[in-house]
Amino acid sequence: MDERWAERWSRRGRLAASADRPSRTPPEGIISFVYGDPDEPSLPLNEMAQAAEFLAEHERRDALGYQNPIRGDELNGALAEKLARDQGIEARPEQILITAGSSSGLGTICDALIDPGDTVLLDAPAWMGATMIFRLAGAEMIGIPIDEHGIDPDRVAAVLDRLEREGRRPKFLYTLPTFQNPAGVELSVERREALARLADERGLLIVEDDAYYELRFRGEYPPTIYSLAKPGNVLYCGTLSKTIAAGLRLGYIVGPELVVAALSRARVDSLRNSFSAALADWYLRTGKYSAHLDELRRIYQQKCDHMLRALEREMPDGVSWTKPNGGFFIWLTLPEGVSAPAILPECREIGVDFIPGPAFYADGSGERHLRLSYSAVTPEEIDKGIALLAQVVRRAMAGVAAARG
Ligand SMILES: Cc1ncc(COP(=O)(O)O)c(C=O)c1O
Repeated sequence: MDERWAERWSRRGRLAASADRPSRTPPEGIISFVYGDPDEPSLPLNEMAQAAEFLAEHERRDALGYQNPIRGDELNGALAEKLARDQGIEARPEQILITAGSSSGLGTICDALIDPGDTVLLDAPAWMGATMIFRLAGAEMIGIPIDEHGIDPDRVAAVLDRLEREGRRPKFLYTLPTFQNPAGVELSVERREALARLADERGLLIVEDDAYYELRFRGEYPPTIYSLAKPGNVLYCGTLSKTIAAGLRLGYIVGPELVVAALSRARVDSLRNSFSAALADWYLRTGKYSAHLDELRRIYQQKCDHMLRALEREMPDGVSWTKPNGGFFIWLTLPEGVSAPAILPECREIGVDFIPGPAFYADGSGERHLRLSYSAVTPEEIDKGIALLAQVVRRAMAGVAAARG
């Protein structure tokens, strides 16, 4: 193989390998807090079968054909109604680009905007799927630390100032305002407003990844940054993976018609999986989606509260964690000197798994943090897994205390 190609394939291989994770089905005896997978028993399998029957009864052969990604079928219309009802976003069907999951949407945005060496700003920590996509696109990432209210617009402004002095401009800011992955926190309304102002005043494009917005089980729904900023300054990314099923591979990007058309024309594949789009369209239009959301909110609240109680009961003083109002994740902070990657092998050995903090930081920091997903585990697994994790944390803390003498 030509050296140039060998280098390229192995670089991409190395990048992909750095994102290798344990199997989605954990080995026998392991309690996995690893993946943000939806609760399995509530997946709407029967309703998807009903939807397929409906398509057959109504001779919807178009559902098995190629479809235009923007005007292909009715899902754009159903999503426009849903966005207005559930997310407070007013968008015409032509402003919605349906993608094969929101990961694919992010990849499409990167294809259009990122050249190797470009700068992307992002939450630190941030969903590792996104950091992987940005890394593969060759972007240089600048992480902006978040706190319990999400990303701080003043810090974003300070980074913009610094970059401007260096003659640089980021391509966009990628941020997860609601039930952040991995931290579980949400951006306050004031900060949403300030970020929207920053986008408008500084010409900063914001890519708002709101995968968990609808899975709120406490508190008020805040406005999206998209709805607060001027048109064109925010691209809003959503997904049906968490609220219907990840296997449908359906996500969407909302933006100005011009941008949506440009993004779709930049792809020869039609992006959209026509068949699953037709199933989702039926699911949304029959009202089953809304009823399912209510059920999901109840399920995730129970799981989250169960995990919070287990942490309260089991964890030693010095360990802290976030208390989410929705979504799938709790973010744990270990005491000084205790490292999440260091305790992971022992945790796996005794039967519990999680993702250590550095996976979520572009610069590999975050050793004292770890992400716990409560979405796919049972209450019994939560009790057992958190007790095991606490055992290992206690041992590690004792080791640190002994080393300090
Ligand atoms: C924040 C965030 N964005 C996007 C995605 C990807 O979703 P999709 O299945 O639509 O590609 C996930 C899935 O884990 C996520 O957590």
